[in-house]
Formats: sequence, C-alpha cells, structure tokens
Amino acid sequence: MSRLAEVKVSDASMDTMRYACRVVEMKKEYVLKSETVRALRGVTFDVPEGDYVAIMGPSGSGKSTLLNMLGCLDKPTSGSLFLGKDDVAKMDDDQLASIRSQRIGFVFQAYNLIQQLTVVENIQVPLFYQGRPLSKEQQTRSLDLAKMVGLGQRLDHRPTQLSGGQQQRVAIARSLVNDPYFILADEPTGNLDSRTTEEILQLFEKLNNEGRTIILVTHEDEVSKRAKRVIRLKDGLLQWDRLNTQEVRDAAAKYAIENMPVEV
Ligand SMILES: Nc1ncnc2c1ncn2[C@@H]1O[C@H](COP(=O)(O)OP(=O)(O)OP(=O)(O)O)[C@@H](O)[C@H]1O
Ligand SMILES: [Mg+2]
Repeated sequence: MSRLAEVKVSDASMDTMRYACRVVEMKKEYVLKSETVRALRGVTFDVPEGDYVAIMGPSGSGKSTLLNMLGCLDKPTSGSLFLGKDDVAKMDDDQLASIRSQRIGFVFQAYNLIQQLTVVENIQVPLFYQGRPLSKEQQTRSLDLAKMVGLGQRLDHRPTQLSGGQQQRVAIARSLVNDPYFILADEPTGNLDSRTTEEILQLFEKLNNEGRTIILVTHEDEVSKRAKRVIRLKDGLLQWDRLNTQEVRDAAAKYAIENMPVEV
C-alpha cells in the first residue's frame, strides 16, 4: 500500500471516531481577593467513546477541577469542552444545569445516596431532577440497571441495609440512568476495602466492555492500571497521557485477585 493510501485510511477513521468529550486548551482560574489560582493552565485531550481513563496527579494538580468541568458543575475560564457538538464553555448556567441532569453520570467516593429512598428510587434520582413524571420506559430502565449491578433482589432495601460495595453499585446504576456521555467517578474505590474495590473495578470493566465510557480520578496505581489509559496532571498541566497495554491491565487484575485477603 502506498503511503498516501495509508494516510487516507487513517483520515477516514478519524472522521468516524465518536468522542465522549474533547478538551481543548482548557484553563480554569479561581479569582480570590489576594490572588488568582491557575488550577488548569491549558489542558488538551480527547476521550473517544468507549474509553476508560484514569486521571492521576499530586494533590492540588487540578484533578477535581478537571472533573468538575467535565461534569458541567462549573465552566472553564477559557478554552473549550465539547460534549457531543456542544461547547460547554459557551453555555450559561441554565444550559449547564440541564446538560448535567440529562447527560452526566457521577459516582462519588462517599456514594451520596439518599438514606430515605430505596435502591430503585435512588437509581431514579437523576430522572426526578429532569422535572417530569417517570415514563414506563424509565421505570423499566431503572429496574434493569439495578439487576445489571447485581441488586435485583434488593430493590426495596435502603442504603443502611447495604454493604459499602452494594451502595457503590447503586451509585453506579444511578450514574447510568440518564444515558450519560460518560461515567465520571471521583475516587470511587477510596472508601472500600480491597475485596470490594475489586468488585467495583470488575463492574467498571464489564460496563466498559459493553461500550460505556469511564473517566475516574484515583490516587492508586493499582486502580489506574486497570483503565485503558492514564492521564497525569501536574501543576494544572497535562504531564503525560499513556495507554495501558492489555498485559499491564491483565497483570493488575491477576495481582488484585491473588492478593485478596482470605475471607474469615
Ligand atoms: N473553588 C476554589 N477556589 C479557589 N481555589 C481553588 C478552588 N478549587 C480548587 N482550587 C485550587 O486549585 C488547585 C487545584 O485544586 P484541585 O482541587 O483541582 O486539586 P486536586 O488535584 O483535585 O487535589 P487533591 O488530590 O488534593 O484532591 C489547588 O491549588 C486548589 O487550592
Ligand atoms: Mg481532588
């Protein structure tokens, strides 16, 4: 094949590649009385649909700031953030709120479930924010999601009746109920023991294999090795962006299982 033909093939694949998000020269400054904090100083990367990205970096490097932008909780000071065709950086607060409730799925370290609600009601919470009565289809979808995360037998349980891992699985099902661009997870295994961490990482792997895009922040190397790709931030800049080989991912999964504490 000639060089020209090769180039054409890759151009064509670029055109058909679909992105969960595209971040272009994104900056975020927090203006305080005494100083301006430059939390993100020009970050550029793409996340193709179906990717699984771990964001790492030292404390203060801008990880949570980046996650807040991706989650439409706040907007960049300059640069662009494309979700689909829309540039979030150009939206007003109402548009941000609407995109957040309709297309963003969050998973937090502390689960953030509502104690008074059942498993299935917690999964439906993002739909209530959309301000419409639930359709039959949405009700079926929330039940299917509960089953998918292995909680089909516990639909009417409340969070206090569930283990930490089960609560995090409710949070993951909740994050999927509005068919998000991506699951956005901030230290999702930070509160979990190693066995439960493994349970959640296996669930992420299953969801990713089914085509879900996952972006998570973690401090743990062993968690980042399970992702397809690792982005490291330093001082508000992208320090590096690397793919994990399948060997690295498999070895990390094997290591986790072999070093699991014995159940007592
Ligand atoms: N709302 C805010 N107002 C002012 N400064 C902020 C605000 N949020 C974050 N910062 C500053 O921006 C920088 C990046 O903070 P960020 O929370 O994104 O770091 P991080 O990488 O998530 O750190 P950690 O690992 O400790 O959670 C820090 O210097 C922080 O003090
Ligand atoms: Mg943080």
